[in-house]
Amino acid sequence: NKKVILDVDTGIDDAMAIAYAVAAPGLDLIGVASSYGNLVVRGAAENSLKILELLGHTDIPVFMGESHSMATDHFDRMPVSAHIHGENGIGDVELPAPTRQPEAQSAVDFMIESAHKYGKELVIIPTGALTNVATAIEKDPSIVDLIGDVTLMGGALTVQGNVSPFAEANINQDAEAANTVFTSNLHDTMVGLDVTLRTLLTKKETQQWRDLGTNAGAKFADIVDYYIDVYAELYPHLDGCSLHDPLAVGVAEDPSFVRTLDIDMIVNTDKEKYGRTIGDNTRLDDPNPSVSAAIEVDTDRYLATFMKYLTTLFKNN
Ligand code: BDR
Ligand code: CA
Repeated sequence: NKKVILDVDTGIDDAMAIAYAVAAPGLDLIGVASSYGNLVVRGAAENSLKILELLGHTDIPVFMGESHSMATDHFDRMPVSAHIHGENGIGDVELPAPTRQPEAQSAVDFMIESAHKYGKELVIIPTGALTNVATAIEKDPSIVDLIGDVTLMGGALTVQGNVSPFAEANINQDAEAANTVFTSNLHDTMVGLDVTLRTLLTKKETQQWRDLGTNAGAKFADIVDYYIDVYAELYPHLDGCSLHDPLAVGVAEDPSFVRTLDIDMIVNTDKEKYGRTIGDNTRLDDPNPSVSAAIEVDTDRYLATFMKYLTTLFKNN
């Protein structure tokens, strides 16, 4: 099995990503790192602890990550993210206070240690800012040749961004970090808006979770319905909410869910097009590009797998 570190800014779709990673038989979730974006890093860690507890998994450690981008000294939550994920990041649904704390070890040190321990077996799945991964690379550059893959939710290659015409939210949090990750020797699989905007969940599916009659089913249905309502308002042309973060976890377990374009990429860090993910003109003839960018997705097969995994998990919790 692949050893997986999920690096999340636990909002609503990150919570679904945690559930998918816990449920996926091909993945060994060895730890959950905390990022910032949908909310501050402490809030993300607390939400991850709450979600893991709801799913009966207090055995999976949670690590604190970096609290702000490499280029700034603080993090201001974008006012819009409270509107998308709720004030508490999980649709303002109340969950019991967690019974445990994040680990003493930092997320960055846990990534470095795991890279040395597991090598190519290790897959890191960032679904928030890329600051933790970039900081780990700066602290120990040898990890770029060790880690199997960074399968990230972020970026947009063939469509416009969601925070600006150029940038997707996770990349926009820290374009400098994203550029470090994309241009390093590490192999990245980019699961961006190109495919996540085509992978939608509706209230028909969340009702199936509620109908299970379990606590996890009911809570997840309430949390995700908040997101579906927000999507109905913000994106009236879409039928449902995007499964951004859980799609990245799906691709980490089964890359055949997507068709990729293999290409070296850079991330713009200039003010004008901050956060744009685009092909690197200077390396178009590279026979071994370091990024596989997802450009097509088998939505039906992915959704069937997503529902199978989450429903089975919620049934028992
Ligand atoms: C990404 O931004 C965050 O709000 C979501 O959790 C997802 O990771 C989508 O652009
Ligand atoms: Ca996220």
